[in-house]
Amino acid sequence: MGAFMFISLVLVFFGKKTQALLGDDDVAIPYAVPDGEIEDSFLIEDARLNFTQLAGKYGYLVEEHTVVTEDKYKLKVFHITGKGRCNGTKYSTPVVLQHGLVDSADTWLLAGPDAGLAYGLTDACYDVWCASVRGDCYSRAHETLDPDHDAQFWNFAFEEYGEIDLPSIIDYVIKQTNNKNVFYVGHSQGTSDFFIMTSTQKDYNDKIRLAILLAPISSLKHIESEFLRLAAAGSPVLHEALNLTDVREVFGRKQPTHKLAEVLCTLVPETACSVPVMAIAGDPPDVVSRHTLQMIGGHFFGGSSVKNLVQFAQIVNSGRFAHYDYGKHQNLELYGVHPPPEFDLSRVRTPVVLVVAQSDKLSVIADVNLINATLPNVLEYYVVPKPDWGHVSLLWNNEVPIYVNSKIIDYFNEYRDSD
Ligand SMILES: *[C@@H]1O[C@H](CO)[C@@H](O)[C@H](O)[C@H]1NC(C)=O
Ligand SMILES: *[C@@H]1O[C@H](CO)[C@@H](O)[C@H](O)[C@H]1NC(C)=O
Ligand SMILES: *[C@@H]1O[C@H](CO)[C@@H](O)[C@H](O)[C@H]1NC(C)=O
Ligand SMILES: *[C@@H]1O[C@H](CO)[C@@H](O)[C@H](O)[C@H]1NC(C)=O
Repeated sequence: MGAFMFISLVLVFFGKKTQALLGDDDVAIPYAVPDGEIEDSFLIEDARLNFTQLAGKYGYLVEEHTVVTEDKYKLKVFHITGKGRCNGTKYSTPVVLQHGLVDSADTWLLAGPDAGLAYGLTDACYDVWCASVRGDCYSRAHETLDPDHDAQFWNFAFEEYGEIDLPSIIDYVIKQTNNKNVFYVGHSQGTSDFFIMTSTQKDYNDKIRLAILLAPISSLKHIESEFLRLAAAGSPVLHEALNLTDVREVFGRKQPTHKLAEVLCTLVPETACSVPVMAIAGDPPDVVSRHTLQMIGGHFFGGSSVKNLVQFAQIVNSGRFAHYDYGKHQNLELYGVHPPPEFDLSRVRTPVVLVVAQSDKLSVIADVNLINATLPNVLEYYVVPKPDWGHVSLLWNNEVPIYVNSKIIDYFNEYRDSD
């Protein structure tokens, strides 16, 4: 997590070089573009399609919505209106799915129509809304700021995801569907967003009927990779370096780093995609299918801000799940205390189910134990009985219908309105 820091920085600098070599915007390598203009390319088709096209290809009709936040970011939310394999009418309580760090809504489709959670929930007659947060490939838009030219656009971290984006999305879905509350599924950073929202804005505890938290992330006290710790330790220096070079976005779809990942993941998926995933997230190469790995090249790396990675790095370094650290002087001005206040998980009243994989190097069992001990309303703390599964297996493994999706559906069936 703070983790991704090191990799991102290497890639950003490498990316700059690639860009210099290839000339500014006119990069010769073909790539998936979220606006759907598919370029001629050797990428497999499923890697090139955007959310709407990909789900559509497998028979799931999607409607695109735009949620405008109070600070004018334009967030894309994908509503699956098709019924998939659902025979009856859909249940009324909608489900909001929120992706993880530098990922995008596509993540819920990558395991394919027989395993991806967005498909599985639709097949089970749930009304699915896949959200995206400011700055990722689908929500790189604002009413007045231009992400390509205004540095201010990128002045956010996951704190803003939890405090502004997620509440706006939940309110929007509630209004659109004429409900009082929604089901929530978050992965990784999507769980941090949930903790921030429900611990700081009391009302939202009631707007979420039940939350499934996959690979939950709060304090990162026990994050396992030494490699990632080192990356986090170096982050202040790197932050300054990036600030000097004007790089404020990381892993953007149109940055050369993304194109490079696409090429490598397509040509040598087992090495180029699996090895870094294993080093960072803990999933061994054989837990994700070759087809899904090839899709990752086109879909993973939804993009985010440098500031977001820095906030994760701060959390790794301090072991505190806290507000953004601006340094003593500014912290005192902004929060009235230094170091910045922590988010208080004991205030989260929503019923939650914690789901964790045994080999996850980011959402480590020792840390999830702390989360379990602090949250007042844990319905179940479920450790998936697959010893080699890591951070992304929970979404991308072919067996998620058995080990994860069915559990989620059982909970929803129990907690939904009896309609
Ligand atoms: C996805 O592609 C379709 C077809 O080209 C396009 O109409 C749609 O706007 C694209 N969606 C997004 C979010 O880019
Ligand atoms: C839908 O109907 C088919 C064929 O009758 C059946 O096999 C399937 O189990 C049903 N699906 C659900 C979710 O009830
Ligand atoms: C980044 O650059 C801006 C303007 O050049 C400066 O005001 C700001 O303090 C810098 N931030 C960091 C963390 O160095
Ligand atoms: C989770 O927390 C509950 C309540 O504090 C405790 O009873 C339970 O043993 C914990 N579960 C695990 C796996 O640590």
